[in-house]
Amino acid sequence: MIRLTDQEFQNIVSYIKNNYGINLANKRQLIEARMYSVLVEKGLKNFSEYLTLIQQPNNSEEITQMLNKLTTNHTYFMREPAHFEFIKTKFLPAQERFNRRRSIRIWSAGCSSGEEAYTTSMVLKDYFSVGRPGWDFRILATDISEKAMSAGKNATYSAEALKNVPPSWLTRYFMKQGTDQYRINDDVRRHVTFQKLNLMLPFPPMQPFDLIFCRNVMIYFDQEDRNKLINKYYEMLNPGGYLLIGHSETIQRDSSKFIYLEPSVYQKG
Ligand SMILES: C[S@@+](CC[C@H](N)C(=O)[O-])C[C@H]1O[C@@H](n2cnc3c(N)ncnc32)[C@H](O)[C@@H]1O
Repeated sequence: MIRLTDQEFQNIVSYIKNNYGINLANKRQLIEARMYSVLVEKGLKNFSEYLTLIQQPNNSEEITQMLNKLTTNHTYFMREPAHFEFIKTKFLPAQERFNRRRSIRIWSAGCSSGEEAYTTSMVLKDYFSVGRPGWDFRILATDISEKAMSAGKNATYSAEALKNVPPSWLTRYFMKQGTDQYRINDDVRRHVTFQKLNLMLPFPPMQPFDLIFCRNVMIYFDQEDRNKLINKYYEMLNPGGYLLIGHSETIQRDSSKFIYLEPSVYQKG
């Protein structure tokens, strides 16, 4: 094991926090453990040499590898099911009444390996496949971890990862591959687009969204960065659009214009 000195630890924590918002101040062991193999592979003696390397120009491969190692990508299908119930029973009926475009745009921000985006695509497919023709929906799935997103683009999951998926969905929306793997079918996948996007930077030009998920991402950010990001989401929503955050997270009442609707569901007025 190559140990981090106090100074190196501070430098890595500041670098990650300033550029990606993630607060690793309590994660010294995690940094040492996850970065060890990278230092060995590159023949580096210590973390100071590593920091010098990632601060070089044209270092995008190094940064990609570091983000793949240091982000926490835990996610699963049907996570926080109350949100999908909200989408089915409130969001979609409201869209049917008020959305004249008949086109719905959803953003899964901090999508990790895509389970949140694909669960959403399946909920919308279920809804629009029965007697509601002429609707279009698109889901943008973004993250800074290319490794997680590459698993999402691959759209192949183990039977164990699908244990919360209803059996009817397994037959309708997945194709079995070999003994233990399932691939999401084209009809669900074609609605989801993956794109690398760092939430700490100004957003690139995008069409506004009707609903944004940002679940279990801001828990790693400090309050100031959370508030800034929440206000950026407000600007990216259509009037009446929704922001869904993780059930363990809250939006401070005075920090944004969002209206609280129910636990972890907020609306743009
Ligand atoms: C725990 S996962 C959450 C996945 C999913 N939203 C869910 O609730 O199951 C958090 C994700 O946020 C991503 N993330 C962290 N900081 C980010 C940033 N600055 N920009 C974009 N994504 C970020 C991580 O790479 C990770 O995949």
